[in-house]
Amino acid sequence: MDNIDRVLETVSITEDERIENSLRPKTLDDFIGQDKLKDNLKVFIEAAQKRKETLDHCLFYAPPGLGKTTLSHIIAREMGGNFRMTSGPVLKKVGDLAAILTNLSEGDVFFIDEIHRMNHLVEESLYSVMEDFELDIIIGQGPSAKTIKLPIPHFTLVGATTRSGLLSSPLRDRFGIVEHLDFYTDVELVRIVKRSALIMEAEIDDDAAEEIAKRSRGTPRIVNRLLKRVRDFAQIAGGKITKEIAKKALNALNVDSAGLDKMDRLLLTVIIEKFGGGPVGVDTLSVAMSEESDTITDVYEPYLIQSGFIARTSRGRVVTEAGYKHIGIKPQNQLL
Ligand SMILES: Nc1ncnc2c1ncn2[C@@H]1O[C@H](COP(=O)(O)OP(=O)(O)OP(=O)(O)O)[C@@H](O)[C@H]1O
Ligand SMILES: [Mg+2]
Repeated sequence: MDNIDRVLETVSITEDERIENSLRPKTLDDFIGQDKLKDNLKVFIEAAQKRKETLDHCLFYAPPGLGKTTLSHIIAREMGGNFRMTSGPVLKKVGDLAAILTNLSEGDVFFIDEIHRMNHLVEESLYSVMEDFELDIIIGQGPSAKTIKLPIPHFTLVGATTRSGLLSSPLRDRFGIVEHLDFYTDVELVRIVKRSALIMEAEIDDDAAEEIAKRSRGTPRIVNRLLKRVRDFAQIAGGKITKEIAKKALNALNVDSAGLDKMDRLLLTVIIEKFGGGPVGVDTLSVAMSEESDTITDVYEPYLIQSGFIARTSRGRVVTEAGYKHIGIKPQNQLL
């Protein structure tokens, strides 16, 4: 894929990681939006600190780019612990988990990204760790095998997943704090654009910030990425990011007025043209689009559903009237 295709990619790409770190809010007060979640976390953090205990294990679920990793960093910082990070697919054996756990100190935050993709043996061994801070290790084989219980310092496990439905219930039940992150409102996204512009030392007009926010599909990661690209256009045009430049840049990047890119529009068009507007199952859609069904469900669909362009019914996905209108095709037979 070239850069233009990837401009709305919600999944982090290498270029993002460099600047993501500089733009990442460091404290809860710096973290824009998600007010209810922040209020809850503040209470839990303060209460744990008063009791001189570690924070309960936290699970964050949300589509990519909404701030799960950022929040885990913030928790470590606010609780005064170290931050350790890994991801579900990396923990292939119980030994991989043991190596990290035995190096933790009291009060650390251990972050497991994509926690739904953990090997089931690793997952099962995590149960006793989460509950009793003890890791069962089997030594030897056959009849002489012995289980030893390895004590683990009290730490906070923070898990992140794009869909909570993919987590087994024994694992989910062991998290004391389970929170969902919502897509951001335009007002919140405008604040994020301005904050990031300030850090990047880019001058930006209010209506230009609004234009970028409106096309960022409710996602801070996309806000930051679009801002970077728009800044490039502005730099050549004279420096300041104006609405006109923002519009020109976003159009050149193929991001439409609702923040949809080529893939989103393709998804809507395929459902309309090949399946009469739906309902169509995700697997069928995946074949028709040559795209993995997980990517459709995790990356494209959440925002299309949130903006009311498609709806999920028991028989599959359907394009709504608003979806038809956005693509500019008249519905043949009204389904919704
Ligand atoms: N509430 C926020 N306020 C300001 N910036 C934010 C906020 N949330 C996220 N960001 C910005 O968006 C970027 C992406 O956030 P983050 O990496 O935490 O997303 P994520 O949910 O972990 O995504 P993934 O599922 O891909 O791991 C961060 O670099 C950060 O700068
Ligand atoms: Mg992340």
